[in-house]
Amino acid sequence: MSLHVHQRAADFHAACEAVRRRGGRIGFVPTMGALHEGHLKLCDAARARANSVAVSIFVNPTQFGPNEDFARYPRTLERDLEACKSRGVEHVFTPSVEEMYPKNDRTRVRVEGLTEGLCGPKRPGHFEGVATIVAKLFLAAGPCLAIFGRKDYQQLKVIERMARDLLFPVTVQGHATIREADGLALSSRNVYLSPEQRNTARQIPAALAAAVRRFAAGERRAAELRGPVEARLREAGLRLDYVELRGPDELDAIEDSAEVGERALLAVAAFAGSTRLIDNVVLGEDPAPEGAPE
Ligand code: PAF
Repeated sequence: MSLHVHQRAADFHAACEAVRRRGGRIGFVPTMGALHEGHLKLCDAARARANSVAVSIFVNPTQFGPNEDFARYPRTLERDLEACKSRGVEHVFTPSVEEMYPKNDRTRVRVEGLTEGLCGPKRPGHFEGVATIVAKLFLAAGPCLAIFGRKDYQQLKVIERMARDLLFPVTVQGHATIREADGLALSSRNVYLSPEQRNTARQIPAALAAAVRRFAAGERRAAELRGPVEARLREAGLRLDYVELRGPDELDAIEDSAEVGERALLAVAAFAGSTRLIDNVVLGEDPAPEGAPE
C-alpha cells in the first residue's frame, strides 16, 4: 500500500472520501509527529478496525502556553513518514499552520467542566487548543474511527465529549497506554530526559502500579490510594503538578476523606527537570503498569 501525503485539508478530505466511496472505513490517528512506538501501536489498532489508516502530523500552536515547548517540540517529518509507511498507513495529513488557522481566525471550541481540573488550570488554554484542532481534523477526515492514547486521559475525555456534543460522525476510541520495558509511558517528550531524569521518571509508573495493587487488595480509602503515590514521587525528587483521584467519566474530584467506587482515575503530572510528564491508571479497570520497579 503506498503512502499519500496531503498538505491541504481539501485534498485530505477528498482522499478519505474516496476510501469511503469504495465502501472502506478510515481509521484516523491524529498526532503532533515525533512518532514513537505508542503512535505506531495506535496505527496498528486503527488498521485492525478499518480498511485504510490516516495519520495527521501537526504541531498545533494553540495548545501550547507561552512558556511551553512549542518551538523546541521535536519535528521529525522524514522519519515519521518512513514509520507510517512501515506500518501500512495510507494517508498522512501534514498541514501548515496557515492551512489550519486561516488569517484572522476567530473560532475556538471549548469543552466545559471536564477541562476545569487536572491539567486544565495548569495549562490555561491547552484544552481549547486541543478541542479546536481536533474538531478541524475531524472535519477534514470526515466520518471515521479516531484513536487516541489513554496516557492523555483527560484529553481523550474532552475529545469524546466534543465529538458527541457537536454530533461529529466520528467514533472516538481510547487505546491502552504503551510503555517502555521499565514502565515509563511512551511520550514524544521523553527525548528531553537526561539518563538521571529518566531513571527518576520510572517512579511514576512504579507508584501507579503500587496503587493498582493496593486497590486490588481491597483498599478503597482515597487518602490511602493517593497519598503514597504523592509521597513516593516527592521522595524521588520529582516536582509535582498534581496527584489526583477523579471520577473516570466526568473527572469529578474525589477528596482524600472519601472512598472510591468501582472505578477511579488516578492521574499524575510531574516535572523531571523541566520536562512535564503525565501518566494515569483507572483503578478497577487498568492493570498495574508492567516493568516498573517495586
Ligand atoms: O495528543 C496529541 O498528540 C495532540 O494533543 C493532538 C490530539 C494530536 C491534538 O493536537
